[in-house]
Amino acid sequence: MNYITVDTGKESYPIYFEESFDSLSSAAEKCGCKGKKLCIISDSNVAPLYAEKVKSELEKVFSEVYVCTFTAGEKSKNLDTIKSFYDFLLEHKIDRKSVIAGLGGGVTGDMAGFAAATFMRGVDFIQIPTTLLSQVDSSVGGKVGVDYGPYKNTVGAFYQPKFVYINTSSLDTLPKREFSAGMAEVIKYGIIASEEFYDYIKGNKEKIKSGDKDCLENIIRKCCQMKADVVNLDANDTGIRETLNYGHTIGHSVEGLKEFELLHGECVALGMCAVMDISVKRGYISQDKLDEFVDLLKYFDLPTEVSGLDRENVYNQLFHDKKVSGNKLKFVIADKIGSTIRTSDVEKEEIMTAIDYILK
Ligand code: GLY
Repeated sequence: MNYITVDTGKESYPIYFEESFDSLSSAAEKCGCKGKKLCIISDSNVAPLYAEKVKSELEKVFSEVYVCTFTAGEKSKNLDTIKSFYDFLLEHKIDRKSVIAGLGGGVTGDMAGFAAATFMRGVDFIQIPTTLLSQVDSSVGGKVGVDYGPYKNTVGAFYQPKFVYINTSSLDTLPKREFSAGMAEVIKYGIIASEEFYDYIKGNKEKIKSGDKDCLENIIRKCCQMKADVVNLDANDTGIRETLNYGHTIGHSVEGLKEFELLHGECVALGMCAVMDISVKRGYISQDKLDEFVDLLKYFDLPTEVSGLDRENVYNQLFHDKKVSGNKLKFVIADKIGSTIRTSDVEKEEIMTAIDYILK
């Protein structure tokens, strides 16, 4: 099987890249799941498409396999849904030696992982991401959790999966809007880590948008490698991992204030536009580069402006970000394409101007 390894020093696990679910049972067997019970958590969009196939594949290894579904969407990402999972797990006699799998996008993976981290003080966990966003970002690195009211991912844990299984052909059924949302995270990797990768996206944008398999496999693998490299150095997000949150601080603020009407990736696109405006005002990046970046996001049908928000509200919501420390906001700012700095030294005026850049 084709894979790369995440190795945090404490935990090590493979990310498999496949074009079907046919090797899932081998992956599960390799990680010692033989004879255990499994609960697959999936949502109302993904379960009808893939749960039967995944279940029958995993029944070759697990003794019992159950599927627990919830209503798709970020609005379900809360403690009430987690409670419904606990009820399901208890009803089906899932025990400490059992395994929980998340089958779906970022919301599913984050919640399945949170249930796994907390149920009976922790049961083993498998990520089976089926959206572009979850394949390139959220399924890797062990961040699990839920939103709390309008505050994004405020309750959660670091809990690494036993393995991540990426079936790239699951993108064939992905709605266009979800695909675009995933592209925001893909483009993010270019900005924070590799100008070469950014140029690759620009140079292959038509192929990527039309779903060219080779291009998509290449970008998914490259993003996972970049993410693994960062997570290996800083699994608990106290240093370099913060760069993965490029665009997320303002993005999360917009996401909460819009009451999760916009997709996470769409809010990341908006947040990236805002912080890149700070880079331009500071003279790190030219206006031309910002315009080109905005055009690239628009090419992938991502929003670069948002209406109906008040600038002071967006600013105040920033203080609920997990990275706030001593009431100081922390920002990740690109000092050129492919490189970032992390700083708490951003004046309110700079932030307000950045917010104005994305408000219609
Ligand atoms: N999505 C950001 C991180 O995993 O750190």
